[in-house]
Amino acid sequence: MKRETQLEIKKLLMTNVCDCRNSYNIPEAFMIFADREVENEQDLKFAATDFCAFLFEHPEYFNVDSLQDLCFAIPETIMFFHAEIECALDPREKSEFVSAVRELLVNGEKTKTLDVGAGVIPLGSMMLARDNSNISAMDKFRISDGLIQKFNVTPRNEYLTADTDVGGYDMLIGNTPCGATIDMIKAAVNYDRKYFIRFCTCGLPQDKEAQRPAKDWMNQLRAIDPRIRIFTSKSHYRPHEYYGYVGPVPDKEVEKIILSANNIKEPKFGKKLRDIVMEIFHGRKNEG
Ligand SMILES: C[S@@+](CC[C@H](N)C(=O)[O-])C[C@H]1O[C@@H](n2cnc3c(N)ncnc32)[C@H](O)[C@@H]1O
Repeated sequence: MKRETQLEIKKLLMTNVCDCRNSYNIPEAFMIFADREVENEQDLKFAATDFCAFLFEHPEYFNVDSLQDLCFAIPETIMFFHAEIECALDPREKSEFVSAVRELLVNGEKTKTLDVGAGVIPLGSMMLARDNSNISAMDKFRISDGLIQKFNVTPRNEYLTADTDVGGYDMLIGNTPCGATIDMIKAAVNYDRKYFIRFCTCGLPQDKEAQRPAKDWMNQLRAIDPRIRIFTSKSHYRPHEYYGYVGPVPDKEVEKIILSANNIKEPKFGKKLRDIVMEIFHGRKNEG
């Protein structure tokens, strides 16, 4: 890590006053880190681990007044932040979806596409943007708009509602967009737009029982948009996947596209923080 980045993070953390209303400024420090250190997808892959390992190496940067904070609260906050970013940067849950969307974007570059619930780091949008220059991503991000633009993605740093203007896009896509699912369909209906959504269970309407039966919520979705086609399929990771689709490709084709996308090989994942932390402590032990 560059010396200037280290100093900038140090300055921020040392002036961070943490009380019951303010928590440790780890997300802000990560923004500084990512802006200064991340140039390409390779840097991004290791960003969470490199950044969090650096924080573990420098507990003295934290302005703490109790040993409790140093022993539990800070490491826990760092680990929690690390898990969030690693999850956003895990390509495994994205590759299948990305490869299906590539096939669906029949007009390629010409299809203006909005990725809703794109992730705190919109890795899926970035993967799509490798060969498509019309990708926008919507979510509340943990990296700056400037850095997202470096990856050829147009950021919309906000949450979607049913009234969001999506008139500027040809197609909305969502890879398990959680709480945005229903509003995404409503917005697509309002503006008569195409869409492709891979559903997650947490984005579906909940009733008194923890799990609403699939048939029930499918009917709910159909009540919002009678055009919707729902596909089910198996993937590498889940026994049942549900997709909702309204779009330019005939249904039979979409079914084939989903099936073939769900058979793609698992990409590699970055180094785990646990390993890095072990290295740090193991290294220290050896020094001692
Ligand atoms: C399970 S994650 C999926 C992230 C990403 N699509 C991926 O493939 O990893 C769901 C995301 O939806 C976002 N989200 C939830 N409600 C939203 C809304 N109304 N508008 C935009 N994003 C939303 C959350 O912030 C979260 O990052």
